[in-house]
Amino acid sequence: RTVYLNGDYLPEEDAKISIFDRSFLMADGVYEVTSVLGGKLIDFAGHSKRLERSLSELEMQKPDAFDDLLEIHRELVRLNDIDEGMIYLQVSRGSAGDRDFTYPSADVKPTLVLFTQSKPNLADNPVAKIGIKVISIEDQRWGRRDIKTVQLLYPSMGKMMAKAAGCDDAWMVEDGAVTEGTSNNAYIVKGNTIITRHLGTEILHGITRAAVLRFALEAQMKVEERPFTIQEAQDADEAFITSASTFVMPVVEIDGAAIGTGNPGPVAARLREIYLEESR
Ligand code: PDD
Repeated sequence: RTVYLNGDYLPEEDAKISIFDRSFLMADGVYEVTSVLGGKLIDFAGHSKRLERSLSELEMQKPDAFDDLLEIHRELVRLNDIDEGMIYLQVSRGSAGDRDFTYPSADVKPTLVLFTQSKPNLADNPVAKIGIKVISIEDQRWGRRDIKTVQLLYPSMGKMMAKAAGCDDAWMVEDGAVTEGTSNNAYIVKGNTIITRHLGTEILHGITRAAVLRFALEAQMKVEERPFTIQEAQDADEAFITSASTFVMPVVEIDGAAIGTGNPGPVAARLREIYLEESR
């Protein structure tokens, strides 16, 4: 695989960064995951805009190559012959050659890394026909979840807790209401209404979320952006998640309780179809 590191396209085994890099020592980095369908980038503009915001919220410098990111994404898709898959991008505050809590001076350049992951069945994911099962866990992440940082230990723990319970993912709960999934936004459906938590610092402002809510309104569905409880989710007609890596994925069970019929529902299926159609 050919990867990108600070201006160079390299074989992955030659891409090396400092042990003093702040991403490594302090989790001082932000990232984006952009999906690729038919060799085409999905919603690059949205991801690029969110990256810019994450950097600015953390007072992190933009990498010199910021304006070339579209070209770099395209080049990696070409070099690695990606038909369906993902591009991972990470910017870290870089390395000052020592360990120090305070940010390094402005002459320390951020580290920019991109690599591809081929996922041949991203669009035709067979799981979308069955749906996923989730557990609920307490949301123990930090308070700025609107910034897409690489602090992913708690989400990783959540996935492991789900796995240990024979499930696929976890929905996190704060003050009695669902925030989001470990790496996706969470939704429930009641009749013709889609309910998902409002934007704020408690959740990541999903790029897929924005697109799916737009498509839902265009398809004459109703959208309510507000908190909901696990109980309300268990009593809903349908549930689903969205992210760049799953698009729209039905949720059929929460904490052992079947949602609706226990099968993927029509609203989630329709939104997945529309999303894939509009993105391709
Ligand atoms: N995760 N919420 C969280 C906590 C996320 O990590 C993600 C994305 C989302 C969905 O955002 P988007 O629709 O822009 O992908 C919501 C990525 C895919 C990941 O960590 O792999």
